[in-house]
Amino acid sequence: KYQIGYYNPPKTEYRWVHKDHIEKAPSWCSVDLRDGNQSLIVPMSLEEKLEFFQLLVKIGFKEIEVGFPAASETEYEFLRTLIEQNMIPEDVTVQVLTQCRDHIIRKTFEAVQGAPSAVIHFYNSTSVAQREQVFKKSKEEIKKIATDGATLVKQLAAEYPGNFRFEYSPESFTGTEPEYALEVCNAVLDIMQPTPEKPMIINLPVTVAMSMSHIYANQIEYMSDNLKYRDSVVLSLHPHNDRGCGVADTELALLAGADRVEGTLFGNGERTGNVDLITLAMNLYTHGVDPKLDFSDMPAIVELYERVTRMHVYERTPYAGALVFAAFSGSHQDAIAKGMNWRKEKGLHQWNVPYIPIDPTDIGRTYDGDVIRINSQSGKGGIGFLLQQKFGYDLPPKMREHFGYTVKSISDHAHKELSPDEVAQVFYDTYLNKC
Ligand code: KIV
Ligand code: ZN
Repeated sequence: KYQIGYYNPPKTEYRWVHKDHIEKAPSWCSVDLRDGNQSLIVPMSLEEKLEFFQLLVKIGFKEIEVGFPAASETEYEFLRTLIEQNMIPEDVTVQVLTQCRDHIIRKTFEAVQGAPSAVIHFYNSTSVAQREQVFKKSKEEIKKIATDGATLVKQLAAEYPGNFRFEYSPESFTGTEPEYALEVCNAVLDIMQPTPEKPMIINLPVTVAMSMSHIYANQIEYMSDNLKYRDSVVLSLHPHNDRGCGVADTELALLAGADRVEGTLFGNGERTGNVDLITLAMNLYTHGVDPKLDFSDMPAIVELYERVTRMHVYERTPYAGALVFAAFSGSHQDAIAKGMNWRKEKGLHQWNVPYIPIDPTDIGRTYDGDVIRINSQSGKGGIGFLLQQKFGYDLPPKMREHFGYTVKSISDHAHKELSPDEVAQVFYDTYLNKC
């Protein structure tokens, strides 16, 4: 009943296991408008896609997969609007997806005419399951789909004017024997003949996650070591999150030699989603590596994303969720209050406050509303800190203790969180109104 659905490459020692951090940001490609959009209950309208595209540009994405223009009228229209209304900045490349099928490749070239630069992303599925069950074709026949696609892409790129780059994906790579995936990719590369000046993207997707993250990393290292034209290949990752390991898959695969990552904001995408680019970028940031993406106004990004996708950013989504800096419990609040005071006294620049992974103000969040939150779990330290920070009342220790118990007990009986104003009101009612 249960299958081991992965293939480990023929190798016993992997160099990436000895590395402990990622030294520089990969190149990023957002697939929000394609993989993200195709998995929404209600796909984005043209206007919504335009707004999302502008957000991605503002964040700093230089490569944006805008859709599958040969597959739907809206996607075709969207791409044409971007091009005809000159909405694509000079330093941004739009990427378009096409299956390796003659008429679809031709329509894709038509759709992309006039773009300042474009990545033509062609793919076909190579896994055992797809070969046997969907295409009912041999390995040779499946390889021929890829090489025929490459031949036509190369021919049309010579016929059409434009600044094109190329990407090939052996879709369902993680369900494909590594030696066979390598054979197909090398056959495509032989046709495309990339050079260091004009490299080609080879994208190795976790179309469906089947293994632990180190297995994917092993597969990536194997491909990186054995692909032809390696110095002319941009090795790209495209993890989906079926096992909840999309971020780990990506990070280990970057250690293993990959150069580029395709994913989405907040991990939107087919099923459990594509890998979340915000988490990846912010993880680099916390390690002191410039991710080259700007998330300094996270609340605005969340607002736009939720509005146009009609999805919800879960409260505990790393870095972006409503509760990710919140501390309700007494011991956490006490440590945070002490850490914040220490930081102030010492004039520290580096962030090292207990329980809070980054300075919330780096991404547009606040200390006031986001960090110390008061309910029946809270403690005197946090409640006192809030009163001091927000209202300027620095209570003596005995009073702080008494006030802490008073606030906890009110919250417990009301069975609700108390806002800072409500805490202040309790303070006035308990002490000042009695003076
Ligand atoms: O997940 C996937 O394999 C894809 C390909 C089209 C790259 O989205
Ligand atoms: Zn995908």
